[in-house]
Amino acid sequence: MANFLTLDSNTLKDFQEKLKVKYEGFKNQNLKLDMSRGKPCPEQLDLSNGLLYSLHGDFKAEDGTDCRNYGGVEGLPEARRLFAACLEVQPEEIIINGNSSLALMHDLIARALLFGVDGHERPWGERPVTFLCPSPGYDRHFALCEFFNIHMIPVKLDQNGPDMEQVEKLVAENESIKGIWCVPRYSNPTGITYSDQVVTRLASMKTKAKDFRIFWDNAYALHHLTEQPDPLKNILQTCKEVGNPDRVYIFSSTSKISFAGAGLAMVASSENNINRLKKQLSIQTIGPDKVNQLSHVRFYKNYQNIQLQMRKHAAIIRPKFSLVLNILQSELGNKNIATWSKPNGGYFISLNTMEGCAKRVVQMAAEAGVILTKAGATFPYGKDPYDQNIRIAPTYPPLNELKTAMELVTICLQQASIEKILRERTIWEHEVKEAQIV
Ligand SMILES: Cc1ncc(COP(=O)(O)O)c(C=O)c1O
Repeated sequence: MANFLTLDSNTLKDFQEKLKVKYEGFKNQNLKLDMSRGKPCPEQLDLSNGLLYSLHGDFKAEDGTDCRNYGGVEGLPEARRLFAACLEVQPEEIIINGNSSLALMHDLIARALLFGVDGHERPWGERPVTFLCPSPGYDRHFALCEFFNIHMIPVKLDQNGPDMEQVEKLVAENESIKGIWCVPRYSNPTGITYSDQVVTRLASMKTKAKDFRIFWDNAYALHHLTEQPDPLKNILQTCKEVGNPDRVYIFSSTSKISFAGAGLAMVASSENNINRLKKQLSIQTIGPDKVNQLSHVRFYKNYQNIQLQMRKHAAIIRPKFSLVLNILQSELGNKNIATWSKPNGGYFISLNTMEGCAKRVVQMAAEAGVILTKAGATFPYGKDPYDQNIRIAPTYPPLNELKTAMELVTICLQQASIEKILRERTIWEHEVKEAQIV
């Protein structure tokens, strides 16, 4: 099949009939596949089972702390050292706490709304608060904003990161803008990595709000799919160099390194911010799960071993990404109805349909038993202005299920595209007729 836009309507209608037959065939299979979230698959989780057996009854940390007991709000020294190396910060600049970085983001925003981000600042929550949301982006960031009644402004995200012209203008003019969400490496869902220039501009831009913060969610810091990782400039270092040392909070976790439900979460920032956070955390908890921290340290030992583990992850999920990309290429490649990302890492492939087709594709796939991430979810308030972005999460399903799901998705996408093209042609023909009558 050639470019759909150049095919005459009868050819398209004939093809539509064939697609309908295929679609019914999928429906009759009573599929039940869920591709809505980026979860590690069981084989990936199995890679880290050894950490459950890594303590051998020895619960003592290197400073003598009995990890089974209370204390150590900032995390074990050896855990801080290990993950500081992963995130290219100093051990004093990181806190290891809990298992979910999303929870750390949630709590940090809650505290900022109640108490402000610096000792002398007013609570954010005293006035309306706005966040910039590079989009397409991570739906749960947007959900956090909605939950806390933080107004969101979508910002265009391109191959190098957020549109910095737009960002710089907005933060310079508007004091209510207190934050920006960034997934700087292998962004969720588009897979892009921020360029050095974007990192420098984010660190150095003039903001009307003195208490402006960058929420640097480096969830995919180590999640490369190739042997040539996308380089990412060190934001904390850059913030220090340009005189804004307290501007950034870096978040990460081992959710997709060890266990998504039982890993370690971390936040890194200037020592100043970290010390303040430590004080606040000590009100919230007498100490985190240090047994799990010790297990992680004993199991991985050093940064090199974590990198090795990430290569094993990549070996498991790379074929899944390749499968999705191959199906997209073979089924949609020259039809001019979709574009998609080809990421070097992370957990997602971002698929863009023709304008106005994403919801229809997701709905049709659901009716045939394949659940995708809700259309619109990758934009603030769930509103994709062009209704065209679909997030594909290839990591969890086994290859055979993924193949079925993706073949179905391409059939739905072709159907939705033909429906749109024929609908628009009908409207256009009607308008031409009307114009002739007049
Ligand atoms: C960008 C991003 N941040 C955070 C998370 C969740 O992290 P955690 O498991 O540490 O809460 C995800 C999970 O998909 C993600 O894609």
